[in-house]
Amino acid sequence: VKNICCVGAGYVGGPTAAVIAFQCPDIRVTVVDLDQARIDRWNSKHLPVHEPGLIDIVRVARDGTKPSTVMLGNEDAGKVELPARQPNLFFSANVSECVAAADVVFVSVNTPTKVSGIGAGAATNLVALESATTAVAKAAKPGAMIVEKSTVPCGTARTIREILTLHRPGVPFEILSNPEFLAEGTAIKDLLYPDRILIGSSQTETGQAAAAALKNVYATWVKPSKIVTVNLWSSELSKLVANAMLAQRISSINTISAVCDHTGADIDEVAKAIGLDQRLGGRFLKAGLGFGGSCFKKDILSLVYLARSLHLPEVGEYWMSVLHINDFQRDRFVNKVVSKLHNALMGKKIAILGYTFKQDTNDTRESPAIEVIKTLLAECPAEIAIFDPGCNVAEIRENIDRNVPTSEAKPLKPLGPVEAYSNSYDACFNASAVLILTPWDQFKYPAMTQKDSVFRKGGDRTISDAQVFTKPDLTEMDIIALGEYQKAKATSHVQLANPDPLNRLFEQSECAVGCMYCETAQQADGVKLSEPVDWARIAYNMREPKWVFDGRNIVDSKEMELLGFRVESMGK
Ligand code: NAI
Repeated sequence: VKNICCVGAGYVGGPTAAVIAFQCPDIRVTVVDLDQARIDRWNSKHLPVHEPGLIDIVRVARDGTKPSTVMLGNEDAGKVELPARQPNLFFSANVSECVAAADVVFVSVNTPTKVSGIGAGAATNLVALESATTAVAKAAKPGAMIVEKSTVPCGTARTIREILTLHRPGVPFEILSNPEFLAEGTAIKDLLYPDRILIGSSQTETGQAAAAALKNVYATWVKPSKIVTVNLWSSELSKLVANAMLAQRISSINTISAVCDHTGADIDEVAKAIGLDQRLGGRFLKAGLGFGGSCFKKDILSLVYLARSLHLPEVGEYWMSVLHINDFQRDRFVNKVVSKLHNALMGKKIAILGYTFKQDTNDTRESPAIEVIKTLLAECPAEIAIFDPGCNVAEIRENIDRNVPTSEAKPLKPLGPVEAYSNSYDACFNASAVLILTPWDQFKYPAMTQKDSVFRKGGDRTISDAQVFTKPDLTEMDIIALGEYQKAKATSHVQLANPDPLNRLFEQSECAVGCMYCETAQQADGVKLSEPVDWARIAYNMREPKWVFDGRNIVDSKEMELLGFRVESMGK
């Protein structure tokens, strides 16, 4: 494989293609999209997707690197010569030209839930997938491998085959399924250190040869034992089931948080106690407001639709209940807010910390915050003030405009009583209650100690012997480890914050004058968005009795009470 084209430059296509390009400098990787504005952002310093570590990976693969000499510790430790690297990651809106050059085409377009027609509200809308596949069918070179990266209903490979045969009868193409398991917020870590790579293929000789060729690409940086090959239908179904099972754990623990709220039990203690059982494990047992995002709900609905189509209504009902509990939990949270404020929100300002569906992303799709805001608006508060460290004011305003109907937003100000702020202090000023809706580290109290590096997992790459770096032909993972090694020796904040400890990156090109993203990046009024929120400052400027409703169980209520807050959490 010498040339890969990824159709769809979204939250999956962009980061996935960037990591493949980063790890495989000899493969030319092009990401294409119909949305020219999105492509322009991928080619600028304001990437359309915010993910920790993404810009570092993109700068290496998209821009190439300069040759550099790195001094290792003291003089005896020696030095490392890093060669220049040529760019091999490209972003383009010219779909057919880039597809035509590719040996492998990833299709990673959006596959949302249908909103009208047969199966509305449950079945998957395959319009984007069909249109992308048609474009691929028309342009792809004979023998190309067409890879489903999008999450699709079980059986979609057959649809892709039909489209290919319709437009290019008799031309050989192999179809593979390679669903993506990355989670937003940790996408780069998940891609660099995947738990597994799943490849589904037809069980014919050519199908298995294609699976082996794709496996070879991943094997550049993933242990072969972690690359699992299965049949096409197992691969398609596994992705839906993985998301359904993850969401089910969240709903399960949330039902127990409701029981805790009515007893003396504490949900965090219960989660810890059960999570120590190795059969259960401790992850995905954090109670809170429930899940959001563009995947869990739609993938469960897709599974429910499949079960119902197969005349398995009990299976459908089982998975549907995971979604019902998610709504129940969110409603329980809002009801608690309204009732603690004496069912009287009129005249009160409510501050919302966190608008994205989870931390470390700018993605607001299906964010629980949207439904919370709609319900609160019906209570006619004086203002709902929103701040999120991952979304700027313009993005939140645009999103509210799109998701909250004008009649509900009651247009008093430009947005009605809903307003977006560029920092938490302005948002919380004079508020009667603060609602924590997204578990950003910045909102935690007591504040978090240092965060783990995106580029290291479980200490895998913590190298203390500098001589490791003097071997010839360092891989990009070795170079990452070298950067980490240099940072570990940093003695000042400036050195620690340096995004280029190896001095190999090119300067990023300047934006045009009046660039909207440059302007909004400077909006935070001197507040560093990456730093922990000063809760004492927030308390000082709030109205009594200074309510904090912690929808994510990330503040210690006893410690917060010492600052003068009254705190309500979920199940504690
Ligand atoms: P997205 O909406 O961020 O990106 C999809 C992109 O495809 C858009 O930029 C759109 O303009 C482009 N597109 C649509 N039709 C096209 C066409 N015919 N030609 C070229 N470009 C086209 O979606 P996202 O989040 O990247 O998801 C993509 C797929 O990956 C979905 O099936 C999703 O379920 C799946 N997935 C998403 C994950 C996530 O965390 N967002 C994780 C794992 C899988």
